[in-house]
Amino acid sequence: MSEPRLSRRGLLAGGAATAVGALAACAPTGTSATPSSRSAASAVPAVAPASAAAAVEPFFGEHQSGIATMPQTYAVFLGLDLRADVGREAIGRLMRLLTDDARRLTQGRPALADVEPELALDPSRLTVTFGFGPGLFTAAGVESLRPETVAPLPAFGIDRLEKQWSGGDLLVQICADDGVTLSHALRMIVKDARAFAKVRWTQRGFRRSAQIQAPGTTQRNLMGQLDGTVNPAPGTADFDRAVWIIDGPEWLRGGTTLVLRRIHMDLETWDAADRVAREFSVGRRLDNGAPLTGRAEHDDPDFEKLGAAGFPVISEYAHIRRAHVQDPGLRIFRRPYNYDEGVTSDGKSSTGLLFASYQADISRQFVPVQRKLAEADLLNAWTVPIGSAVFAIPPGCAPNGWVGDGLLG
Ligand code: HEM
Repeated sequence: MSEPRLSRRGLLAGGAATAVGALAACAPTGTSATPSSRSAASAVPAVAPASAAAAVEPFFGEHQSGIATMPQTYAVFLGLDLRADVGREAIGRLMRLLTDDARRLTQGRPALADVEPELALDPSRLTVTFGFGPGLFTAAGVESLRPETVAPLPAFGIDRLEKQWSGGDLLVQICADDGVTLSHALRMIVKDARAFAKVRWTQRGFRRSAQIQAPGTTQRNLMGQLDGTVNPAPGTADFDRAVWIIDGPEWLRGGTTLVLRRIHMDLETWDAADRVAREFSVGRRLDNGAPLTGRAEHDDPDFEKLGAAGFPVISEYAHIRRAHVQDPGLRIFRRPYNYDEGVTSDGKSSTGLLFASYQADISRQFVPVQRKLAEADLLNAWTVPIGSAVFAIPPGCAPNGWVGDGLLG
């Protein structure tokens, strides 16, 4: 398949949809496709790639990739603020342009006018996921189509939010198994967004790579805990119910919402706590993630069980008790990344979690859990939310469309 003759001017004028449609290699979300720049013989499933560099995730589909997608090793969350004169029509042009960048780069092809095209040839399961913050709805004059909960969260007593990590009109979440691929995609997206928007923040994160631990294994956060044991599993009915929007505004069906919290971990005081205290704070063991009442990671916690002194084995204030939601379809879906921005001269680390939570309904799912944790959670002694942002994540787009066309088209 040859690349189309498509000029940047043509794209900005709105011609992208047709060209995108003509080009598209369409594959349903959750499966892997082959980069068009490589032979069909190199097609590999994303789960166990013969070549990690060549593995691709689909771009087009019912849902945007990057949510149900098995988490890649690296992520960068980019928060953009629209420039003052950018309204609905211009946001539409921006989204056509960025959609075109994303569908090329994720399939291992350079973006238009890519100055380093070689850097685009190893997609490494790159995904680019877009989200709309409250300000975008205002700028586009479509306030009435904004879900009520796509707004700053209620204030929580534990919050120490910093402006530099909070808010944003437009989110671009970029994930890949390779840091170079990730940086290149970020650079292309920022370059193409520049005329329309300013960068508000970038937040970089990482997880253990699939070369280091088997796919599907629960990751460890920088406190050393297995993090992600009780979480809706992509591909299940519970996941679909918990994550994808099926009612509400028509344009958002098949989409979801994202709450991104930047949570600082005070590792110096955490290191000073003994193992018993650390395990007690969560209610799980550090070695294998088993609940304190069980033996293996996926054993059900017994919240009723009392210890020798007559107190619950899993404390009333343990993180897993406070955060537990009985109905699996009402749980949040956590897809967190670790961050570590270095150490100050006096040895203090800037470390924590980019806590990315996806759910169909923020007020029914995220807020009640966060409220209970803010009221009392032993983990609060070592963790502090320092950033907070909320986005509507539009559904995926068809090969002849662009992300957000249902709202802005
Ligand atoms: C730095 C901050 C945090 C750390 C280190 C952390 C760590 C953990 C750990 C180790 C577990 C147990 C293993 C698991 O099931 O994944 C867990 C469970 C959980 N956490 Fe957190 N967490 C943090 C913040 C939050 C926040 C802000 C929320 C939501 C507002 C949250 C919601 C949950 C939920 C829903 C569970 C599963 C509870 C269950 O049903 O067993 N966590 N977390």
